[in-house]
Order: sequence, then structure tokens, then C-alpha cells
Amino acid sequence: MTLLTWTPENKADFAAKNLLFNHDLDQSPLFTDEALIALIDRYPRDKLEVFTMGYDPANWGQWYLGRRGDLDGRALMEGVKAGRLWLNLRKVNHADADIAALCDQMFDEIKAQSGTTTLKQDLGLLISSPNAHVFYHLDMPLVMLWQIRGVKKLYLYPPAAPCVDDAHLEGVALRESDEQLPYDAGFDSLALVHDLKPGEMMTWAQNAPHRIVNHGMVNVSLSIEFMTPRALWRANVIYANGCLRRYFGLKPSLARSPKWLEPLKIAYARIIKALGGFKGLKSPLTPRFSIDPVIPGKIIFDDGVVAPEMPGQKPVKSKANEAA
Ligand SMILES: [Fe+2]
Repeated sequence: MTLLTWTPENKADFAAKNLLFNHDLDQSPLFTDEALIALIDRYPRDKLEVFTMGYDPANWGQWYLGRRGDLDGRALMEGVKAGRLWLNLRKVNHADADIAALCDQMFDEIKAQSGTTTLKQDLGLLISSPNAHVFYHLDMPLVMLWQIRGVKKLYLYPPAAPCVDDAHLEGVALRESDEQLPYDAGFDSLALVHDLKPGEMMTWAQNAPHRIVNHGMVNVSLSIEFMTPRALWRANVIYANGCLRRYFGLKPSLARSPKWLEPLKIAYARIIKALGGFKGLKSPLTPRFSIDPVIPGKIIFDDGVVAPEMPGQKPVKSKANEAA
């Protein structure tokens, strides 16, 4: 009995191409409301990330990290249902034995069915509000998105120009840009668009830019990142290219640079990392809002933060902006 449906194409192209699978984890007792509430309460308090966001898919600046405060799992779930929140329990496979066992089962199955060796497995649990969205971005590892509950629209773009250029791709590898990329609505004509439903899983080519828009219901999904030896090789070449561009003003191209240079680049990337890694433009998110402890999902932005404007509504300014 496998977790996923494996067609010949899915076996041959796993970790290389965009693929759609079916699964039945949406029926698992691990992901009922009560199980999720208990999981949130077992998960390390300071590791749980809570976000909210604006409405314009081109306005990356309105992706806000928040504080969970004293809210427990039940209150956070109520907040997700009532508000515009995006909870991320990163690396939950490292924090919970049941999820760890599920994650091991997934990757054992992937090895058995496709022959793919994986490493750095990171299972993130996403619990998100109706109509919440994630801005255009790309991830350096490979990704599987398992849909458990609700429906989300996935826009998946080619990992190449014009959707992403070398300098921005390197910026993600060097962690100088929070994974964000410039988005142009014109890219949508190049996108694979799919409404991901409970019981479906999509995985895509490494570094494919994507954005996600929830339909009008709570969504529960597993966002699983992993590497293969080949994916790690590519990530290190991108890292080296980024350092060569930023330290020496070179203009390396991932698509056109000679392959024989790659082992040298891998060695160069290892040396830079051993010396402490690239120290460039870091932009870690700082918390910008709290959640009302009484009214579920009500967001209280910090002074100075302009609350995102819902289409058709006037912007609500914080006290600091009113004073100014
Ligand atoms: Fe992503």
C-alpha cells in the first residue's frame, strides 16, 4: 500500500518535472481539527510562524510576520478560520514523532518507486485562512505540496527567463532576498495553473517560481522541501555564481556557463561556506503585528505599519501614521 499514485511518468520524472499525484492523506486522523490543535500545542512555541498579507500579488512588501502571543492551538485555529492568517510549522518532522514517521514513510516510498535518493527532508505544515495567498517566490530545494483540506490555486512558472533571472535566483541561494522575486502579471500566460484539491500532491522542477491563492475556505497543506544530490549540486553552482557576481562583478549564466567549470564552482561554494558564508544584503522579517487575544483572527498592526487595503476599502493607518 503506497501513499501516492505512481504512474510510469511519475516514477521516471520525479524531482525533474512538474508532476501531479493522488494520495489519501486527506483522510488521515493526523490532520483533523483536534489533531492539528494538539499538534500546534506540542510544537515548539517560538518556532511557529504566523503571517498575514496584503491583497495585491505584486506587492511583496505586504507579507508580514506576526506574534502569536499567548494564543494556544485552539485560538490559532479559530483565528485562521475567522481572519487572514498563514501559519507555518516548519520542520514539524523534527518536532513530532507521528509526523516524523509519516515523513520517513514518504521518502522511503519515493526511493522505492522512483529510485530517487533524498536528503535534508523538511516537512512544513501550512494552516491558512480563506482567500489568503503567498506571493510569487521560488525555493532553492525541491518541493512537494500535499493538499489535505480546502482548495488552493497554484500558479507554477518556468524556472527561466523572463520569470526569473540569474541574479535573482542567486539572491535566493545567498539568502539575501527572503525568496521573493519581482512579479509581472504578464508571467501568468506562461504559468501552469492548477486548483489543488484534497487528495492531490504537486511537485515541480527545482527553482520553479510559484504563487498560491486559497479558495474561500481554510486550507491545510504539507509543504515538503528536500534535496537530491543533483539538486544540491545545482544549488551550490547557483551559490558560487552569486558570489562570483557579487565579489568580482562577473556575469555567470546558469544555463550557458560551461559544465566543466561546475566542479570548480562547487569547491568555491564550499570554501565560501566554510569561511562563514556570503555576508550580503540580509533582510530578515521582523514581527509587524499581534493577534487580538479576544476577537478571533483580528490583526493589530504595530504603530507605523499601514494595514493592507482590501480592494474597495480605504487604507487604515496606525496611530503613528495618523500623527504624521
Ligand atoms: Fe514555495
